[in-house]
Amino acid sequence: MKNGQQWKDIHGNYIQAHGGCILKYNGIYYWYGEHKGADNCPNSRRVDVIGVSCYISKNLVDWEYKGLVLEAVKDNPESYLHPSKVLERPKVIYNAKTQKFVMWMHMDSADYKLASAGIAIADKPEGPFRLLKVKRPNNQELRDMTLYKDVDDIAYLIYSTDHNNTISIDKLTEDYTDLEGSYTFAMVNQMREAAAVCFHGNKYYMVTSGCTGWKPNSTLYSTSDHIMGSWKLIDNPCEGENYRITFYGQSTYIFEADNRLFLMLDHWNANDLKCSGYSILPIEFDEDGIMHINWCSDWDGI
Ligand code: DGJ
Repeated sequence: MKNGQQWKDIHGNYIQAHGGCILKYNGIYYWYGEHKGADNCPNSRRVDVIGVSCYISKNLVDWEYKGLVLEAVKDNPESYLHPSKVLERPKVIYNAKTQKFVMWMHMDSADYKLASAGIAIADKPEGPFRLLKVKRPNNQELRDMTLYKDVDDIAYLIYSTDHNNTISIDKLTEDYTDLEGSYTFAMVNQMREAAAVCFHGNKYYMVTSGCTGWKPNSTLYSTSDHIMGSWKLIDNPCEGENYRITFYGQSTYIFEADNRLFLMLDHWNANDLKCSGYSILPIEFDEDGIMHINWCSDWDGI
């Protein structure tokens, strides 16, 4: 697969799973993301909500489409899932205690003023997911967001808040369907979004993008000794040609495969969002714990 380009599934159809995440469950990788498979609305940089799609693979290259696991509700304009709304960056984690698959996503009005989280659950990884609630975490705005499940199975919601000025990190309840109540701020007044989190050595790492809509900008990463600790901004981890514009991409998720960490990027095509591309790049760390991300023109899977 060519990084930065549109990717096709095993049936030759373009993959629609933008702003997504990858979950490994029972030896299978599940890729969830925004289905943007329609033309942009006239004179606009948005696509009507279609739903969250799911693809499965064993090697992260041959992807089979499993359909929409959470679908738009077309006949009720009041529904948070109505096509006229916004549904971005769905993230799914598995809760071993409840044996449920829990999805959090950014749900919004077309003007991005609702700025809320949607929470949905499913009994199986291929869905269907049922929307449980839509809320503002701790009455704070939520726009770009991700989930991070720690080794102790405690999970966190990480999101841009306060007009995207600051990142909030909130602990989830044991069943992952709500907020436990404790939260902390990271990158205060730094205007970052598209957060993705991982752990390496003895530190947590968070990569974020700047806030320039669908246009690419510089990735920066921060580290902290504790997920809810004090985050320190380090540098741009990208290296080589186009490193200042994240190789024309934007971070969407960090996942582990074969004991290595990978960063997935979206390559947005603002004027025709359904034609946006993807890339998956290995994340390297040197002996000092410095993060390095280099461009590779191909993604060959594992
Ligand atoms: C950048 C965000 O990262 C995307 O998820 C999306 O919200 C666009 N902005 C909208 O302009």
